[in-house]
Amino acid sequence: MTITLDRLPFDVLFYIASILKFDDIINLSHSCRQLKLLLNESTLCRKTIETHAPYSKEARLAQDRHITYGEAVQSVYDRREAFSNAYPFSARIVGQGTAFTYRQGILCVLSGSTIRVSDEHTTPAFFNIDLSRTLGSLSESSTGSPSELKISLLYYSDNILAIHYGRKTRPNNGRILAISTKTDLADEERLLEDIPLESSYKLFVRHTATYLYYGTYTGVGDHGHHEWEIRGVSLDKAHPLPKQTRPLQLEEFFGTDIGFTIAFEIHNGYFYALSNQTSFEVEEIDWTSFYHCIRFPLSKPLCNEVEINTRVYRRQHKEGPIHDSWTDLTIQVDELTNKPFIVESRREWLNSSSSQLRTFYITDIEFPKLTTSTPSEGGSPTPGSADQNPLPIDDPLRALLDSSNNPNFAPDQPRLNWNAHPEFEPGCNPARSFVFSKTKFRAYNFSCSSFIDLVEDEKCCSGVSVGPCLRIRIGSRRPAPIDWEPSDKITSSRNQSIGPPPLGDTWYRHSSIRMWPPPANTCPCSKRLHEILNPRMVSESVYNRTITGEMDERSFVYMVRPGRSYSTDDENALGTIIAISFNRERRDTSTQEPELNSQGHSKDVFNPSYWHWQPGHLCRVQQCC
Ligand SMILES: *[C@@H]1O[C@H](CO)[C@@H](O)[C@H](O)[C@H]1NC(C)=O
Ligand SMILES: *[C@@H]1O[C@H](CO)[C@@H](O)[C@H](O)[C@H]1NC(C)=O
Ligand SMILES: *[C@@H]1O[C@H](CO)[C@@H](O)[C@H](O)[C@H]1NC(C)=O
Ligand SMILES: *[C@@H]1O[C@H](CO)[C@@H](O)[C@H](O)[C@H]1NC(C)=O
Ligand SMILES: *[C@@H]1O[C@H](CO)[C@@H](O)[C@H](O)[C@H]1NC(C)=O
Ligand SMILES: *[C@@H]1O[C@H](CO)[C@@H](O)[C@H](O)[C@H]1NC(C)=O
Ligand SMILES: *[C@@H]1O[C@H](CO)[C@@H](O)[C@H](O)[C@H]1NC(C)=O
Repeated sequence: MTITLDRLPFDVLFYIASILKFDDIINLSHSCRQLKLLLNESTLCRKTIETHAPYSKEARLAQDRHITYGEAVQSVYDRREAFSNAYPFSARIVGQGTAFTYRQGILCVLSGSTIRVSDEHTTPAFFNIDLSRTLGSLSESSTGSPSELKISLLYYSDNILAIHYGRKTRPNNGRILAISTKTDLADEERLLEDIPLESSYKLFVRHTATYLYYGTYTGVGDHGHHEWEIRGVSLDKAHPLPKQTRPLQLEEFFGTDIGFTIAFEIHNGYFYALSNQTSFEVEEIDWTSFYHCIRFPLSKPLCNEVEINTRVYRRQHKEGPIHDSWTDLTIQVDELTNKPFIVESRREWLNSSSSQLRTFYITDIEFPKLTTSTPSEGGSPTPGSADQNPLPIDDPLRALLDSSNNPNFAPDQPRLNWNAHPEFEPGCNPARSFVFSKTKFRAYNFSCSSFIDLVEDEKCCSGVSVGPCLRIRIGSRRPAPIDWEPSDKITSSRNQSIGPPPLGDTWYRHSSIRMWPPPANTCPCSKRLHEILNPRMVSESVYNRTITGEMDERSFVYMVRPGRSYSTDDENALGTIIAISFNRERRDTSTQEPELNSQGHSKDVFNPSYWHWQPGHLCRVQQCC
């Protein structure tokens, strides 16, 4: 007797389904009606979410019963699918502003002294915060003309927006203000914290609902160079910070460019700092590069609580030169394990070959167990000290070392497939790529194993429009099924992939790199999409626009401003903000059109600044009818 899957007792099916991968469950449920019922089975869906995306927003919503587990499964699948295949569900012009932040689904747009706050994940409705009323009592705003005041957005998290507020004429001080962005507050009640600054040099902020940490590049180290100083403030009276007179100085932590050479992040009660280098100067003779990782608990920003690891293996210099402009460094959290990872994108001439290759490297952040050693022997291992740092045997360069050198060396460490995601699948013909000056925004998402670039494509609409079109370009990879065989078995790098991967590793299947939207002459809806994605600029040529972007797992928001931001005058230049969403919208979008369509348009009126996918609308998947 043949036993078909759908005839199995539910317990057995449940067991099978609970060890299947997310995609397989969805694909199975699409295969027949009986299995489709599975997706309506809430214990099974709950198991799926808890196994595969326990730290996702959907998991939280389902736990709190805002959505069902079935909806959660569908939603995670939809957005991952949409993102990794470059099939967005909607695109719209949000409005105009001089700056924006986008995090946790909340978009804050600054324009003058007004901040427009909207939740991109749920509704297109928005509200405004009038800062002049919020800040009414502060001394800076009562003296001096408003045109002298300068507001910049620093960071958003957990219903709090941190802004920097100061005088244009005195750029190096001012204050940090923590502003509540909860919907139900009067503007006068929004100011949560007012932090005066001695200096705002390279100021950054990271915060939670409880603690706000900020850093400036104002310390001076033993070597006479600047170092980062980190200060913390409690935003919640129930969680005071220990009294501290001095800021925490990140000693021997080098680098100044957040997002390129260093990264700061708060995760799970810790403040993390990460740098791609462990020495201030480039060593003339050097073998290995390490990351420098630091963390300390948010509730205890004290020297003896700081954990340091300066020996997180990064690469060997012999792997080849790096094309510095392309380097991006982030700390990202895995949706499955809630662990933070180092995610660095590097473009390298691997093995000093003539062609460059971009690879997204993923590295575990680890700290040696805190020991209760006496202070004299405590601290981090000094790079270069003989016992910590052996030198390569048989390397002729060894003979050239003298006391002025401080080389780093570690033996080669294996790089597993999950540690490195090459932009192009090894052994395949590389798809079309773009030079640095045409790549206006880049990001990688570890949870989706996908990268997104916003590129200026000269070829897309040549003849139809003037100048290049902005398009998104996405590539992704997924763990391959066990019985998967790559299409070409010739290339040596793929040779081993027949058969199971080594323990602890995975084979991956790359999707082809996709660009979106399709050329404007493909169909009316793609023409409209081009108009949304490429906002017209007054009086400026399309060639000098500045683009800044932010993204999370379901939306990509960017701002296009005229001119390059060389001169300070440009800070006041209004830019257009565009949001592209990979979230399937379940709401009735027609009743709450975005701001630009405020003339009370009825349901079916064409809105030129808002496109959203509807069943049968093929523009999303690039085959307009
Ligand atoms: C699921 O189905 C889609 C198309 O229906 C396919 O592209 C995808 O590769 C399948 N996923 C897996 C894991 O087989
Ligand atoms: C899923 O369950 C809901 C209520 O539990 C029911 O109304 C709906 O018809 C079910 N859908 C399918 C496809 O069985
Ligand atoms: C760190 O990144 C920067 C920017 O890409 C680069 O100039 C520098 O060489 C990197 N440091 C190391 C040790 O590779
Ligand atoms: C670089 O060369 C080494 C040894 O010559 C080899 O093992 C490695 O696979 C090469 N890497 C690439 C990306 O070609
Ligand atoms: C690839 O596999 C073939 C057949 O199994 C084998 O003959 C060949 O030596 C392998 N090549 C490499 C580089 O391992
Ligand atoms: C803007 O573009 C025009 C034409 O390409 C050029 O002449 C001008 O110098 C550019 N301005 C800036 C600030 O780059
Ligand atoms: C990546 O995606 C995950 C979920 O898929 C999300 O939680 C996270 O915010 C995303 N990270 C970035 C940097 O976009």
